[in-house]
Amino acid sequence: MTNYKTLDDLPDIQGKSVLLRADLNVPTKDGKVTDMTRIERLKPTIDTLISKGANIIILSHFGRPKGQEDMEYSLSFLPALLSTTWKHHVSFKETTAKITLLENTRFNAGEEKNDNALAQSWADQADIYINDAFSVSHRAHASTEAIAHKLPAFAGHLMNQELKALNKALETPQRPVTALVGGAKISSKLDLLNNLIKKVDYLVLGGGMANTFICAQGYDVGKSLCENDMLETARTIMENAVKENCTIVLPTDFAVAEKFESNAPHEIVSISAVPRGKMALDIGPDSIEHIKSVIDKSKTIVWNGPMGAFEIEPFDIATVKIAKYVAEKTKHSEIISVAGGGDTVSAMAHAGVKNDLTYLSSAGGAFLEWLEGKELPGVKALSS
Ligand code: 3PG
Repeated sequence: MTNYKTLDDLPDIQGKSVLLRADLNVPTKDGKVTDMTRIERLKPTIDTLISKGANIIILSHFGRPKGQEDMEYSLSFLPALLSTTWKHHVSFKETTAKITLLENTRFNAGEEKNDNALAQSWADQADIYINDAFSVSHRAHASTEAIAHKLPAFAGHLMNQELKALNKALETPQRPVTALVGGAKISSKLDLLNNLIKKVDYLVLGGGMANTFICAQGYDVGKSLCENDMLETARTIMENAVKENCTIVLPTDFAVAEKFESNAPHEIVSISAVPRGKMALDIGPDSIEHIKSVIDKSKTIVWNGPMGAFEIEPFDIATVKIAKYVAEKTKHSEIISVAGGGDTVSAMAHAGVKNDLTYLSSAGGAFLEWLEGKELPGVKALSS
């Protein structure tokens, strides 16, 4: 793992200014924040810096305003909420205050170009740089990469916690390790699958992507989602998995329906008996039991992507049952469980286990790139 400094290594910062890169790219609906995870998880770093007497200048992006001032993406809606949640007053754009949130970094054309002059203009306002935004560390941007070379750079508590949890799950794990990978398509997760077969003992596939592997074995999956141009790729992944001693676990049965809609009439069928006009919307009870038996053999679980169409009931059953099983075994210290990436956080929240895994990453793209085995520029910059 990258060798970086943490808040334990900070020099005396009493009266000094600290630039803190946070990820306040929070989900919103009608101007209201719908999930507080990213905000709440920053509080330990804020508390540490305040207790050490520093002035904090927060940098964050929000949405994708494409290098222009677009008030739809202004961060002005956040200081009041940050103040209440962190119990420290946060001002907006006024760097004379103890904690200041600057305007969206992506209003600057130089941000996404990793522009040195922009990074320098921020660095000139502070003495120390802290990155607490693992979830945007896959972007080599001025506020995540260039700036880390201009000031003494440290990882915040959240960044450190995230990196330690991920490292424990895939780099130095207790074996056997099982990866649960779901979601719609293998085409968007090829690098991830190719990396995982080298690292894990069992690769359990669910969701739409499993259908493509099942098709590749010669089964007819009816109207189910299946990437016909990926069949050869799926076969190659299965062959490589054998060479790497990784067992790929595929569903043996499905919940199938005629339509993709809530409470659509459905039946449970074997993968070899999918009716022509029906589509798989979830994996079936035999598959769930088989996956539980694989989890029983495992010491570490890494999870990305739902096992079925969990947004529409009752096709959330497999995702919910398996999530609850993983949570229960985690609670009894039988396994270490790490989940993250895109839909996974909502799937875990839907299953009611958001706080019951060893670590639930709030990162989307960064979690996926980490699963792909890629070096994350924002993390790398902290150690050079
Ligand atoms: C995220 O929400 O995944 C991060 O904040 C990165 O956002 P981006 O995909 O717009 O770079």
